Amino acid sequence: MKPRLRKAVFPVAGLGSRFLPATKASPKEMLPIVDKPLIQYAVEEAAAAGITDLVFVTGRNKRAIEDHFDKVHELESDLSAKGKDSLLELARNVLPAGCRCIYIRQSEPLGLGHAVLCAQPVIGDEPFAVLLADDLIDAEPPVMQRMAERFAAEGCSLLGVEDVPADQTSSYGIVVPVERDADVTPITGIVEKPEPASAPSTLAVVGRYVLTPTIFELLADAAPGRGGEIQLTDAIARLLAKERVLATRLHGRRYDCGSKLGYLEATLEYGLRHAETGEAFRRYLAGRGR
Ligand code: G1P
Repeated sequence: MKPRLRKAVFPVAGLGSRFLPATKASPKEMLPIVDKPLIQYAVEEAAAAGITDLVFVTGRNKRAIEDHFDKVHELESDLSAKGKDSLLELARNVLPAGCRCIYIRQSEPLGLGHAVLCAQPVIGDEPFAVLLADDLIDAEPPVMQRMAERFAAEGCSLLGVEDVPADQTSSYGIVVPVERDADVTPITGIVEKPEPASAPSTLAVVGRYVLTPTIFELLADAAPGRGGEIQLTDAIARLLAKERVLATRLHGRRYDCGSKLGYLEATLEYGLRHAETGEAFRRYLAGRGR
């Protein structure tokens, strides 16, 4: 039987300090790109890949995420009574059909690796996806869908990667690919946020992973790594001694919505193509240039 991905982990416990003061009392994952919060884009990407079980690893101040994916009966009956059918559709379809949400608390901010380990009781002995909502990826087909298809064929862990400028390696997990320019290639190493001078390549991990459950045993006895945190990257480096791991290049455009500039770029691009705002926004921008 071909392995199928059913579960995804969304680590959403981060403090979002790069977006203060906006994120003082509300989650960074709820920041909207035009009219949809970042976390909803990530959830829709997972659902498009056939994933049904959405495991959110949350922390303090993250209740808005739980509320977002719940039904709001008052809102629905109000919109229905007023005949606002298209808004009603939007409110009803926040959680994709057939999906269910599971919430786990990460009570201490011990790093991405620790957040993933917190999901183990729900994931069990199954492969799973990890999606970081900060990385908004505009691609058709969606990145996780391509990764899920690849996983069904290969059955091993996969990392979404893209080339980054050489001076940005210290912001990413950087892989050592067997074939530098291949679309999909095994990797022989991975390092968390190396300085440009010591980076083994410029191929960076973006926030999309498919992992086998072997990762849990490696995370469970992982020592703190960069920044004193339990790093997912370090566990993947150890996974390489046991299993094959493939890097798959992303086709599409990634917006780093954990940074203000990336967030603004995404807002601009999605605003320009939004059915409601696109045309008027384009006219506005053209007028500003005069
Ligand atoms: C995390 C990972 C890093 C990865 C990045 C992708 O870093 O630790 O390996 O390249 O996500 O966005 P963060 O951006 O959370 O510091």
